[in-house]
Amino acid sequence: MTRKPIMAGNWKMNIDHIEATGLVEKLHYTLVDKEWDPKKTDAVLIPPFTDLRTVRTLIDGDRLNFQLGAQNVSEHDNGAYTGEISTSMLTKLGVTYVVVGHSERRQYFGETDEIINAKAAKALSAGITPIICVGEGLDIRKEGTHVEYTLNQVRGTLANLTAEQVAGLVIAYEPVWAIGTGEVATPEDAQEVCGAIRQEVAALYDEATAESVRIQYGGSVKSGNVAQIMAQPDVDGCLVGGASLQPDEFAAIVRFYQLPA
Ligand code: PGA
Repeated sequence: MTRKPIMAGNWKMNIDHIEATGLVEKLHYTLVDKEWDPKKTDAVLIPPFTDLRTVRTLIDGDRLNFQLGAQNVSEHDNGAYTGEISTSMLTKLGVTYVVVGHSERRQYFGETDEIINAKAAKALSAGITPIICVGEGLDIRKEGTHVEYTLNQVRGTLANLTAEQVAGLVIAYEPVWAIGTGEVATPEDAQEVCGAIRQEVAALYDEATAESVRIQYGGSVKSGNVAQIMAQPDVDGCLVGGASLQPDEFAAIVRFYQLPA
């Protein structure tokens, strides 16, 4: 079984809908110029909610080979949840991926494994692929308990999901100390935890599910380190923050297979 690499660009709270047009077009033309083969990588753009419609229109109008993702979703269907966005609102816009449980959501918005699990389940029931984020902070890393800590998050966020659901989703391992800090985990650090996550999925479900689930690394990924990270056997893609705002950088990350490892 070969897993298709998946590069996802999380713009976070950057880029308004007007700026989005420029960014997406520049990214597209750079990739065309460098002869990116979309069969080799899934490229997912994850803008703020207010940009989704604009990016969707660009993708459809110009037949761009990008998939659309959202940065968050409500665990509720609809109703009196001021400020929230539902899965059906996202599917209407052709959103096929959603990030759940990003460390910034955990840290600043109090999201727990339980909430993240409910969001992942809601996304799956709407046909949206969740990108479930896990990963330890610096204190845990220093203690040396990062593998167990992260696997605990994996167990919590996958609770009650079926093997079939888990086989199709994405787990992003993002050590918090490496996010937006320029402090990148070594390829071996990434492999240690991504490999442990795959083993845990095999233990919780079965080998076939573990072979199928895609596991991303995230945290200060750039064109200069992506090839080494992607050379690790259990890393199937990257969740990219800062570098996804730079078309040249993100284009290079998407065509990582052309870069020297
Ligand atoms: P970064 O962010 O690439 O800017 O470190 C990664 C992320 O938060 O997903």
